[in-house]
Amino acid sequence: MSPNDKIPDPADDPKVSQLSDFPEEIPNELPHQSGILARHAILEKSPTLLLTFSLLVVTIGGIVEIAPLFWLENTIEDVEGVRPYSPLELAGRDIYVREGCYVCHSQMIRPMRDEVERYGHYSLAAESQYDHPFQWGSKRTGPDLARVGGRYSDAWHVDHLMDPQSVVPESIMPKYAFLADAEIDGKHIEALLETHRFVGVPYSDEQIEQAKTDFMVQADPDGDWDDMLERYPGAAIANFDGQSELTEMDALIAYLQVLGTMVDFSTFTPDASR
Ligand code: HEC
Repeated sequence: MSPNDKIPDPADDPKVSQLSDFPEEIPNELPHQSGILARHAILEKSPTLLLTFSLLVVTIGGIVEIAPLFWLENTIEDVEGVRPYSPLELAGRDIYVREGCYVCHSQMIRPMRDEVERYGHYSLAAESQYDHPFQWGSKRTGPDLARVGGRYSDAWHVDHLMDPQSVVPESIMPKYAFLADAEIDGKHIEALLETHRFVGVPYSDEQIEQAKTDFMVQADPDGDWDDMLERYPGAAIANFDGQSELTEMDALIAYLQVLGTMVDFSTFTPDASR
């Protein structure tokens, strides 16, 4: 009997169809569950039990993920070719951070087919070993830059940074032309290297002593850069921005041109997993 007797019992209403009218129909109900599955209702009806069991599950998951890290000696395998940044590259990296390039660009290629085909070999932990802080990023408004080094000429980078739309008309990247007017002299470059040594980058005393010289000579193809190249194998030496003055544009392009070029993937073989 309905609590409101103005509403007739639907079972008595000839206009309302009943399940018995269609014996073939599958009732719109989940199949009856038995065993442990049926008992989850106990957990769901008691906040205390639900909280206790959730905590238990999270704890087990956490231990499984975190505990092994305490027994592994090192989570980064050393890879041949990875070296600390040269002073000019390091200064360029600071400009990259200062300008917030990481807000639109990631620097981490994940081991998935679409990424590897577009950007190249997936990133290795060792490749960001000397990045403090790392520049993996979290958003790709623009493409990943982990392997942009060597992909374009220095002149392309100058054009692109001055006015991205001049080379990629549909680009929404902002202009960074002012970098070409900002002269730099490496006044604090030794301190910058020392700071990085302080947080674990293995710069030698010699590298720190020669920081200023190395800083200037990398952008001077006519200079005496042999020693610099010995200290930083594979560093690109060029007048990156094409102007006689050393500018932030030089430093930033030196940095972009080294990204992802340190490891020779034609000879690289990953360690067997531990
Ligand atoms: C508002 C987002 C945004 C910011 C900030 C930004 N970019 Fe870009 N960038 C893009 C987009 C979008 C593209 C793709 C179109 C193009 O090539 O211009 C791009 C492309 C690039 C490319 C070419 C990559 C390739 O593989 O073709 C480089 C190099 C680059 N950006 C460097 C930088 C640097 C260095 C900075 C910081 C000084 C920076 N970007 C800041 C959005 C951004």
